[in-house]
Amino acid sequence: MTRLVHVSDLHFGRHDPAVADALLRDLERLRPDVVAISGDLTQRARTAQFLAARAWIDRLPCPALVVPGNHDLATADLFRRFVRPLARYRAHVQDDLSPVHRAADLVMLGLTTVRRTRWIEGRVGDDQIRWIEDQLCALGDGVFKVIVSHHSLVPTNLIGLRPAVRRAARTADTLDACGVDLLLAGHLHVHHVDDVREHFGTVRRSILVVQSGTSLSVRRRGEANSYNVLDVRPPELLLEVRGFDGGAFTRHRAARYAKVGDRWRSAAA
Ligand SMILES: [Fe+2]
Ligand SMILES: [Fe+2]
Repeated sequence: MTRLVHVSDLHFGRHDPAVADALLRDLERLRPDVVAISGDLTQRARTAQFLAARAWIDRLPCPALVVPGNHDLATADLFRRFVRPLARYRAHVQDDLSPVHRAADLVMLGLTTVRRTRWIEGRVGDDQIRWIEDQLCALGDGVFKVIVSHHSLVPTNLIGLRPAVRRAARTADTLDACGVDLLLAGHLHVHHVDDVREHFGTVRRSILVVQSGTSLSVRRRGEANSYNVLDVRPPELLLEVRGFDGGAFTRHRAARYAKVGDRWRSAAA
């Protein structure tokens, strides 16, 4: 089994320090194998905010796979936004915008969707689609394949209509062809589970989409701060949403999914 933890939208600068400490305590107890962080590490892409995010990541009890979010772009400074939009993220958090985590039976790719001009909805480029194909398509079904991105591949109507990332249909076809099992995303600050297959007529296999609420930010959109624990034991996956209750994170929701053929089906948790 792989215990995969998914946190998102930390927003250092507008985060709650008590929640940040409580989440670390929760993870010390849960002992995940890897933590996926799906972007928006900072509120305004300031150096001090990146340093605080990096210090928090360094306290995690396991490796982390990190991608940036739109708040990690230097949007306030026009020159920096167009010339070196992710310079501070790359200097203080992680230089690699295409990180890979490999374990014996699981591969996780970090897909950077933020763009200097498409900073709200994001985009996936041809070079990234080729990279996904190179990394994943030759792997057999015995390897559980995960993509982590800030923007989701599917549109939602949870907080007003939010479009999918630009070139989502082309990307979805590639993920389908490569047998991707799971997509982890953030950006909305609400928890949500979906299936890529429900949104694109050309996609034949289920690809489970799990959105995380904001794990640390005070901008909570009516939900508690939360994060996801995914116990992956193919063909099953147990998803637990852990939310902050004023002192500690506790179980807020749990769901079990089983892959039958090429379809994810929800089962009793
Ligand atoms: Fe965010
Ligand atoms: Fe965002």
